[in-house]
Amino acid sequence: MSTILEARVLVPDVKLFRVHAPKIARKHRAGQFVIVRVSPDGERIPLTIAAADPEAGSITLVVQAVGKTTTLLNALETGDEILDLAGPLGTPSEVARFGMVVVVGGGVGTAVTYPSAVALSQAGNTVIAVIGARSRTHLLFETELAAVCDEVHPCTDDGSFGRHGFVTDALADLVATRKVDRVLAAGPIAMMAAVAETTRPYDVPTVASLNPIMVDGTGMCGGCRVSVGGVNRFACLDGPDFDAHLVDFHLLEQRNRAYAGWEAARRDELGPCAAVPVVVDGAAS
Ligand code: NAD
Ligand code: FES
Repeated sequence: MSTILEARVLVPDVKLFRVHAPKIARKHRAGQFVIVRVSPDGERIPLTIAAADPEAGSITLVVQAVGKTTTLLNALETGDEILDLAGPLGTPSEVARFGMVVVVGGGVGTAVTYPSAVALSQAGNTVIAVIGARSRTHLLFETELAAVCDEVHPCTDDGSFGRHGFVTDALADLVATRKVDRVLAAGPIAMMAAVAETTRPYDVPTVASLNPIMVDGTGMCGGCRVSVGGVNRFACLDGPDFDAHLVDFHLLEQRNRAYAGWEAARRDELGPCAAVPVVVDGAAS
């Protein structure tokens, strides 16, 4: 059992949890994730660690309610317990002195880019964040990224804040006008695929943090299989970061949609009692 030290709604349907997990906090490196179980007979879901504080013995998770498990998780509050938390899992993101690095975050995937932005900045890179959301009220981690990045370029689909358009519009301008040495993307699959196509003509090394379905998180079940350069790789062991120019995003999208209908039905079973109040009380810390 892991105690929730802090739980708060960040934007509609997205909640931040700071959880007591001292061993995971000590070992965590940017890009790694945990596998979470909320109930004894429930599914196991991967969640990227958005931040770790070894001194406080806590890790931060950012959860979007999309199915039954994430909806149950988002109904938990400060002081509640999470049944299981296994990690840190996965291969840490590559951190080196690349030069100018653009981290691209879409929606809740923006939280995934944060620990990498911190590590890349500490390694001496110029770090530019391009972050996108449907509207201003859905934009995450702008303040946190501004504290560690050299520039932050917010974008909204409806033009309510920052640049009107997708993150790829801002990224296209950056790669066309600046010497970008590396791009790291996390967000919807369509976004990561579009990021790969934006940087491909410029030969900018581009990494995508993939989010396939996972079960055990240890390379045993094959659930997280992704095709990279025509070779099957396990995102839980070999990833979640992969060369975005080689990822078969179409296959990833197909595999991730396999249980979408079933998942929506299970979420509906929870009924109105599972609704998380939509109260936006500030950005993450
Ligand atoms: P969303 O659908 O609101 O999109 C967020 C932003 O992504 C948009 O504002 C836009 O800037 C960009 N985007 C979306 N589609 C695009 C396209 N076709 N081309 C270019 N840019 C595009 O995001 P959401 O509702 O917050 O959903 C977040 C998604 O991120 C979920 O699908 C979730 O599974 C995924 N996710 C990914 C990771 C990861 O590690 N990659 C982690 C958590 C969540
Ligand atoms: Fe089972 Fe990766 S989650 S092999």
